[in-house]
Amino acid sequence: MDRTKVDQIIHEVVAKYFRKPLIVAGNWKMNMTVREGLDFLEKLGSTEGNVLIFPPYTTLAVLAPEMKKRGILYGPQNFHYEDSGAFTGEISIPMIRELGCSFLLAGHSERRGYYNETDEALGKKVAKGIRSGFQVMLCIGESLEERRSGQWQRKLTEQIVLDLRKLEKEELDSILIAYEPIWAIGTGVSASLEEINETHSFLKMTMREMFGRDLPLLYGGSVNEKNAQEIGSCPYVDGFLIGGASLNPEKFRKIIEVSRGV
Ligand code: PGA
Repeated sequence: MDRTKVDQIIHEVVAKYFRKPLIVAGNWKMNMTVREGLDFLEKLGSTEGNVLIFPPYTTLAVLAPEMKKRGILYGPQNFHYEDSGAFTGEISIPMIRELGCSFLLAGHSERRGYYNETDEALGKKVAKGIRSGFQVMLCIGESLEERRSGQWQRKLTEQIVLDLRKLEKEELDSILIAYEPIWAIGTGVSASLEEINETHSFLKMTMREMFGRDLPLLYGGSVNEKNAQEIGSCPYVDGFLIGGASLNPEKFRKIIEVSRGV
């Protein structure tokens, strides 16, 4: 049996019998006023350490103590690699640190697509975030065209290589990857289980070849309270990054329950 196959079997056994609760991350995007956020947290209640939320900047300061009280980890949806300066509309690491954030979201496809966030900038951002003591969740994903034309492996590998290129090996401990096929985001139709299995096992193998280890790998793209159980049962899925369903406390709570039972 070849090495890759042996690795795969070992990973599946470990994933099945020694699994930690899945990570459940909510990306609120440009949704939620302070009042709505407080109401959401009130309805959600307390959690147990595997839940994180990326709220909009304007709500962070007020929601921070409320999230802390409920055991929710949190951070911004974007950040700059400079500490201060003439960067209108941006926020910096010292501002984020002051609010008790421990996570940073980086490279979401909406930022890459609508705001021209480049791999060049992401390389700097990721290194800055890690060296400032944060955990960074890096989003990667391919377009429908890249999926259909068989370019997805090249695209995902390229994003990992370019965005993590400035890191030392031990700094990888603070990275989580969220695989989010662009074509499955906000469409109500997630990637199929076959596609998730194929892509996640490819990414885990690729990371092992590149770094000698794999990194936590979340799936995102139309995850909801109905499909979370199935998707979470895939051996290479370590958690979810959730947009739409993270705005509804009942749905989000159901996904959290699933994450502790698979
Ligand atoms: P969705 O968004 O769950 O609404 O598809 C996921 C994301 O963009 O992180």
